[in-house]
Amino acid sequence: MAKSVLTGMVGHGFYNQNSATQMAAIDDVLPWLESACASVDLTESAAAIRLADFGCSEGRNSVAVMRHLAACLRQRTSAPIQTIHSDLPTNDYSELFALLRPEGRSVFDDPQVYSAVVGGSMYDRLLPSHSLHMAFTFNAIAFLSRRPLERLGDYIFPNGPSALSGVGSVSREERAAFADQARADLEGFMRARAAELLPGGKLLIEVFGAGETLRTCDGIYDALNDAILEIVEEGQIDRDAYARYYQPVYMRTLDELTAPVADRNAPLAGLFQLDRAETYEVAVPFVEEFRKTGDIGKYARDYTNFFRAFTEAVLRGSLSQHPRLDDLVQEIYARAERLVGTHPERYEFHYIAIAALLTRKADD
Ligand SMILES: C[S@@+](CC[C@H](N)C(=O)[O-])C[C@H]1O[C@@H](n2cnc3c(N)ncnc32)[C@H](O)[C@@H]1O
Repeated sequence: MAKSVLTGMVGHGFYNQNSATQMAAIDDVLPWLESACASVDLTESAAAIRLADFGCSEGRNSVAVMRHLAACLRQRTSAPIQTIHSDLPTNDYSELFALLRPEGRSVFDDPQVYSAVVGGSMYDRLLPSHSLHMAFTFNAIAFLSRRPLERLGDYIFPNGPSALSGVGSVSREERAAFADQARADLEGFMRARAAELLPGGKLLIEVFGAGETLRTCDGIYDALNDAILEIVEEGQIDRDAYARYYQPVYMRTLDELTAPVADRNAPLAGLFQLDRAETYEVAVPFVEEFRKTGDIGKYARDYTNFFRAFTEAVLRGSLSQHPRLDDLVQEIYARAERLVGTHPERYEFHYIAIAALLTRKADD
């Protein structure tokens, strides 16, 4: 069984309010899912057509996708549809429940669409065998199931600093430990979904990652790293605490994402056929807005809230022994916001997404 590290988002609606960028990344692959809806095999007898989203967080984006796909499937079938929204047991599900039943009624405006929420790690089996027609995960599979190293001495992110920054480093050996963990997690996820999907079922994996030159980690982790180093230099935390904190997340390349199914000798080639795979750059709403308005204050705030939503829980967990934890965390993000506002060119941000669409093969 995969053990999950503390990888949750900031709850209480903060993730929902700061995830328009993730929705933009999803929008780019929605046409892939629309054609999957048009071609997925619905002939297998099942009580319902089941769709599952793994790593749904507080649910704003997950519910939007499910609404879209339920409407697509309705053009082909009048069978009941079940949407399944899954995330870690520690996830804050309160907004998701409210979104699924606003004013006590289903958000789907369709009496034959039902929803369920499942808490558990996506690297484990979570659903009955052969129960799903479609499964997907967005902006989530980069979060590792465990911390492969206890310390990362000279930077806070496994892929290392951006070429622009040059502050800090991650050795080849350190990076390899994370790449190995990411490979094992991806294969675990694919095996679990292979068991849950019906033959002919579709699996879409979309996640932020690394392109040939740009990586989604560039800029955001440089800003957070520089802010934390200021705190270290002032003696508010020591160098050992800095080394013990890192984000257990790994930015894969498209080749790493497709490796388990890339050719006939690949380890999971017997389970899935690879239909389509791409690397693409997402138009980031807060970057686009800054280009239009030049409002640097708003840009720095939106930029910082964007990465705060998915880094704060881990940072807090790592510094939890600090006597002034709330103030310290607040100060770190305030410093990051100041740095982005003062040197936007140093923390340039690009959202590079990688995605693959797979079809579950029939068992031999
Ligand atoms: C950046 S959010 C993405 C949320 C949503 N899919 C979206 O695109 O807006 C990443 C989500 O992955 C979840 N996550 C991380 N590790 C996970 C695991 N092992 N199993 C299930 N979910 C996980 C986190 O709790 C978080 O809610």
